[in-house]
Amino acid sequence: MELLKQVIMEKGKVLSEDVLKVDSFLNHQIDPELMKQIGREFADRFKEAGITKVLTIESSGIPPAIMIGLELGVPVVFARKRKSLTLVDDLLTAKVHSFTKKETNEISVSKEYLNEEDIVLVIDDFLANGQAVRGLMEIIKQAKATLTGVGIVIEKGFQAGGDLLREQGVRVESLAIIESLQHNQITFREE
Ligand code: G4P
Repeated sequence: MELLKQVIMEKGKVLSEDVLKVDSFLNHQIDPELMKQIGREFADRFKEAGITKVLTIESSGIPPAIMIGLELGVPVVFARKRKSLTLVDDLLTAKVHSFTKKETNEISVSKEYLNEEDIVLVIDDFLANGQAVRGLMEIIKQAKATLTGVGIVIEKGFQAGGDLLREQGVRVESLAIIESLQHNQITFREE
């Protein structure tokens, strides 16, 4: 997605050889117009898939996921990372280990919002090692729902998550794939 790549080039900050800071439009301050375009792009790519639900994980997956839900006219469910006072129903849970943060979170979704009739699109802001996506896939499996694909705003192509999922036959659509952040420069994978 050209617009997204332009914004990444203009506003992204290379923090290290493997971390890109995008706080000014995605991870802290949110650019609603860009989110709208992202929603349209994903809706266009997945419009034939019969999606009934968008599933993401708090917090930064929520803004793009909502815009896709709006475009497709379907609800958006986000997995919680922390125990919630009101989340007391039967839960679907999975463990997600973050290599970046070196911590493991148990993520959860109420059984009320995901079931065997659902055709699910998983959305997240970043794809690095793919642990968050795998956790969401585990929750979809527990719900006996169907995974139709994974939509990612920014994939780090130099980390293994995306390619491993593709090798397993999962449809992964990333709007921008970063090939390298070396030498303080952002390089995209040719599509
Ligand atoms: P993984 O799920 O693909 O295995 O990713 P990993 O554990 O490495 O990432 C942990 C968190 O860091 C995730 O956010 C992920 O989106 C984010 N992240 C990973 N690489 C980058 C990067 O290069 N730049 C930025 N800006 N974020 C990155 P999270 O902890 O779930 O945070 P949030 O969604 O609450 O913001």
